[in-house]
Amino acid sequence: MADESKQTVFSGVQPTGKITLGNYLGAIKNWGALQQRYNCIYCVVDLHSLTVTQLPAELRKNTLDLVALYIACGIDPQLSTLFIQSHVPQHAELCWILDTICYVGELSRMTQFKEKSRKHADNINAGLMNYPVLMASDILLYQTNLVPVGKDQVQHLELARNLAQRFNARYSDTFAVPEALLSKTGNSIKSLQDPSAKMSKSDPNDNAVICLTDDADTVVRKLRRAVTDSDSSFNCVRHAADKPAVSNLLNIYSLTSGETVAQAEKRFEGKGYGVFKQAVADAVIAVLQPIQARQKQLLADKAYLESVLKTGADNARYIAAKTLSKVYRKVGLIAPIR
Ligand code: TRP
Repeated sequence: MADESKQTVFSGVQPTGKITLGNYLGAIKNWGALQQRYNCIYCVVDLHSLTVTQLPAELRKNTLDLVALYIACGIDPQLSTLFIQSHVPQHAELCWILDTICYVGELSRMTQFKEKSRKHADNINAGLMNYPVLMASDILLYQTNLVPVGKDQVQHLELARNLAQRFNARYSDTFAVPEALLSKTGNSIKSLQDPSAKMSKSDPNDNAVICLTDDADTVVRKLRRAVTDSDSSFNCVRHAADKPAVSNLLNIYSLTSGETVAQAEKRFEGKGYGVFKQAVADAVIAVLQPIQARQKQLLADKAYLESVLKTGADNARYIAAKTLSKVYRKVGLIAPIR
């Protein structure tokens, strides 16, 4: 299945909370387009989710929902390897080895660790600190060349690169050193309530975030309530540095309608915010509805989802086992007697 002449792409999303329109436009939507050019491996990183408190039944549901969502968003299990992280034990195993070459100082300095420690002050567990080492394991197990990530994950990716280089220097060449594949559009999707913050699934303000599961009425309501920039001019719908909220809505409109921002500015020339917001809502709904319908259909077909997950995990395990056995041998562990 894996084509040796192609580079490998790996990415993952946590099955935590709601996947947002920002996640979709910035990440998952683009993943489908990479499938022809690269060996793509897409993972639902359930072990990462355990670093914050989860309700087991909810985690289980979110995990399957996300698998179905990946496929509904255009990831083709025939072209890509799609699997659940905990189905491939090598992730946790490599994590242990990398833990032993990673310094505590490197982890305690991580921006996301500091943020999450503040947010979950009652549960600063060791897993939360080691989160980036598990992420490095995800990436390095598959000899990954490219990792599509948002800006907020660049620091974690840098650690994965450092660990790969450190291991290679200490024990001879073992891991490919991965590079970030930054999305041009994605990180630009901001909160509907505060255009200086990114649209984040952990935002406590429900109105700030469009979820991929939102129905049409909800999308309309949230967009109607979206903040705009005060402007009484004839052309209030403009993409401009001093109009961050409207620029964000224009970006959303452009990415969901397929029109360029310039075309959209022209379309809404002389129109007020009300008309514009309704059009953004319509464009968003037209993107969400088919995804939601497909996800529902997939979730109803247990046998199909299970076959995808079995094939995906089998594939992933095969590659991961090769890398891990090399690693074990190089650090001096004795191979199990067969
Ligand atoms: N930390 C990533 C995030 O929150 C998720 C993730 C885990 C990931 N392992 C990964 C992303 C490996 C890319 C590659 O967005």
